[in-house]
Amino acid sequence: MKRRKVVVAAGFCLSFFLGTLLNLLSVPAFEHQQQQLGKQQQLDSSLEPPAAVTSAPALLHSLRQQIRSRLREALRYGPFPERGTRPLERRRLMDLQRARDEEREHGGASAGQLGCSSVEAARDVRFVGSGYTKAVYRAALNGSFAVALKSVDFGGHDMEECVRRYGSAADCYRLASVKLVKEMALMERLRHPNILKLYGYCYQDSNDIKDTVTAITELGSPLEMIQLLQTPWEERFRICLSLVRLLHYLAHSPLGSLTLLDFRPRQFVLVDGELKVTDLDDASVEETPCSTSADCLLEFPARNFTLQCSSGRCQGINEKRNLYNAYRFFFTYLLPHSAPQALRPLLEKIVNSTGELLWGTEETLAHLEKALDIYRNGQYLINETQTHKTEYKRVLDASIAGDNYRCWPSYQHDGCMLAVYDVREAMGVCESHAQCRAFVLTNQSTWTGHQLVLFKTGSVGLSSAKGKLTYVRLGS
Ligand SMILES: Nc1ncnc2c1ncn2[C@@H]1O[C@H](COP(=O)(O)OP(=O)(O)O)[C@@H](O)[C@H]1O
Ligand SMILES: [Mg+2]
Repeated sequence: MKRRKVVVAAGFCLSFFLGTLLNLLSVPAFEHQQQQLGKQQQLDSSLEPPAAVTSAPALLHSLRQQIRSRLREALRYGPFPERGTRPLERRRLMDLQRARDEEREHGGASAGQLGCSSVEAARDVRFVGSGYTKAVYRAALNGSFAVALKSVDFGGHDMEECVRRYGSAADCYRLASVKLVKEMALMERLRHPNILKLYGYCYQDSNDIKDTVTAITELGSPLEMIQLLQTPWEERFRICLSLVRLLHYLAHSPLGSLTLLDFRPRQFVLVDGELKVTDLDDASVEETPCSTSADCLLEFPARNFTLQCSSGRCQGINEKRNLYNAYRFFFTYLLPHSAPQALRPLLEKIVNSTGELLWGTEETLAHLEKALDIYRNGQYLINETQTHKTEYKRVLDASIAGDNYRCWPSYQHDGCMLAVYDVREAMGVCESHAQCRAFVLTNQSTWTGHQLVLFKTGSVGLSSAKGKLTYVRLGS
């Protein structure tokens, strides 16, 4: 049974690559160009044709060279098929075979088998976001299962700029689609809870272009940094922790140490509070070649680092680039701000050490896991010497309707709902809020197991509520 699953998964992988490759290998003169491009290691990221290239055929030739260059890079992330072309029909047959195998295996729908029929059956399709290259829509499959549909954005910056320069929508589409293909390949090869899952893909003809590709992936919600700054510390800590778990995996990935060249927050999404990377088209395993450490300059807008050159490569450059980006885009904003007092020194150490690139992902992760442990076990409260001056009346199976006030950062926008480790912590919070006269322990908890508590201005609306526990302050 297990072996069969592996075979089916391998089949899926292979059919995906064969399909994609057959599509892309149809670019004329691929074989010849492949040899010419043999030494080219880096992805040609510039759309600019060489200055001397002005005639239409020369421009097209230059564009096709870029397609092949990107293709070479994308191919490094998946299994190579044998050389030579095979008819498109064969790919389609393989896809069908795969779908049938999966159906037999799972007795129904499974993520790996999603394809064109899912795209056609998608309902309630809504735009969720776009970048330079791709547009992403959310869609409901089978009524409730929501997925993301990712495809090349015909009106996006990449396509428009390319068509303006080269005039061939079909070729520009191919250039852009290799990015999506590379992303799918990486999603397929890299398996980690903080990398979005690829559920399947579909090739179909549209907008006068043959065989456009749509990736079907796990759905998330785009990351809004401004919004994040207003969320409780625990949620922001979770994002930083997921990010470092991801970076630790990328540093030890089956493809080698992988760096995300475009690390802006919009390349990540949130799925149930967990951070996941969605944009992988700018990922690279290339570690900068060098002859001396002078070649190993890691440049950022506000800071440069010189790394060691050893065995012809800048040591750890990919891991360090990721870490410094995590520091400048995430940690400085999300980690220390409004953290529990006792955790601040540890969190500041994490921020400072990553900002100075003193640690690798291993050490950074260990420190974050330690912070999680301290928080989860309530050890951050141990040194709290504050004794509670006020007495409380404990009312079992009761809650308070109304009597809300706002506080920051609350889990509820029209009330004051905060996460606490225990009743003692809730009492401390209540005593620190001038308006607080009572609080209700809800039966909801956060991802760390902390309990959500609603703080109240009074207990006028006290009524019975099974499973909830209310504490009312006595005296003035
Ligand atoms: N799976 C997803 N669920 C929800 N939103 C997504 C998903 N993938 C991407 N997005 C949103 O779509 C935008 C564009 O996707 P991305 O892969 O970054 O495209 P590009 O390569 O053009 O930057 C992202 O910035 C993100 O906000
Ligand atoms: Mg993006």
